Amino acid sequence: MKILITGGAGFIGSHVVRLFVRKYPEYQIFNLDALTYAGNLENLKDIERSPNYSFIKGDITDEDFIQQIFAGHGFDRVIHLAAESHVDRSIHSPMDFVRTNVLGTAVLLNAARKFWKDNAEGKLFYHVSTDEVYGSLTDKGFFTEETPYDPRSPYSASKASSDHLVRAYNHTFGIPAVISNCSNNYGSNQFPEKLIPLMINNIIHNKPLPVYGKGANVRDWLWVEDHARAIDVIFHKGKSGDTYNIGGHNEWKNIDIVHLLCQIMDRKLKRTEGTSALLITYVKDRAGHDFRYAIDAGKLKAELGWVPSITFEEGLESTVDWYLANQEWTNHVTSGEYQQYYTAQYSKR
Ligand code: NAD
Ligand code: TYD
Repeated sequence: MKILITGGAGFIGSHVVRLFVRKYPEYQIFNLDALTYAGNLENLKDIERSPNYSFIKGDITDEDFIQQIFAGHGFDRVIHLAAESHVDRSIHSPMDFVRTNVLGTAVLLNAARKFWKDNAEGKLFYHVSTDEVYGSLTDKGFFTEETPYDPRSPYSASKASSDHLVRAYNHTFGIPAVISNCSNNYGSNQFPEKLIPLMINNIIHNKPLPVYGKGANVRDWLWVEDHARAIDVIFHKGKSGDTYNIGGHNEWKNIDIVHLLCQIMDRKLKRTEGTSALLITYVKDRAGHDFRYAIDAGKLKAELGWVPSITFEEGLESTVDWYLANQEWTNHVTSGEYQQYYTAQYSKR
């Protein structure tokens, strides 16, 4: 089986690529990535020489190029993760999100349609999406696969659009497709613009910890390797045309996570208890900030038997250990464009 994985040099994509390359030596894995600020081949150093792995540098919005690689390699299946993925950036530059997430997905679907139209047997377009397409919850209830779409940021609106395109190509053209909508991920190799790695990095460098609004917003956190395991299960056992929600049943208020990270970091860095928490700084809230996300992953458990493999406490310990042991990685990914982004995002808050 020849599998095209898009966005495989990013955070979640690199974990998916590693899992598939190691677990399925009989599959040929092609990682297509444009290597934007968020993509980094250092994430895949340990598997880059595997005989069943190849890297292709390219942009999913480049239709001629995408058609060329489909023609050249004859992919049987696609796992599509390439995207612009950060809500705050989508507030600064919404058009980048429309281009990559909407147009890029359409270009990939068109190629699948063109090259699979005569024989869709065994083919699959697996689209990796987010729970943010469902909108924002109050303090009650959960997102299920039946929750109506109600995206509220340019990021979630662009992901919702891409989900709709995947369903439309499945329904209209018979492209075999599955979609999964996952809650917030955390773990190694996450770009330090997202809450958990940003806080870890700032604690290491004694920088202010910017908590938006009152820190009362709630997210449902899942360890990235458990997300990759869920993708593996859905890829092999999911039903074409279906959607699966993935989540950790692990809801946390932002401020509570920041305090927990401060405690863990004080211990690891041998600082007096309470030292890192002094860095907490409440800043202007995010525009249109969704209050709460929480996933009901009951369908995935009941139909395909997936449950998370570790607790949040275990996952957070190992994540902090990874960032402490890999400060060179963080220095590298934050050395260029990140500095301008950070100033634009945080200096006026
Ligand atoms: P990321 O930003 O870390 O990685 C995105 C990758 O896509 C990068 O390697 C980047 O270089 C690549 N890319 C961007 N634009 C491209 C283009 N035009 N052509 C080719 N490659 C391009 O993102 P992530 O957090 O790993 O998320 C991966 C996917 O999972 C996204 O589709 C995202 O919407 C979804 N998702 C993320 C989360 C989360 O918590 N991070 C949760 C649920 C779903
Ligand atoms: P983030 O990691 O950006 O994920 P998402 O917005 O996709 O859920 O943010 C998680 C939560 O943390 C969200 O409620 C916004 C908040 N947040 C802060 O309070 N400060 C920060 O510096 C960042 C990046 C996020």
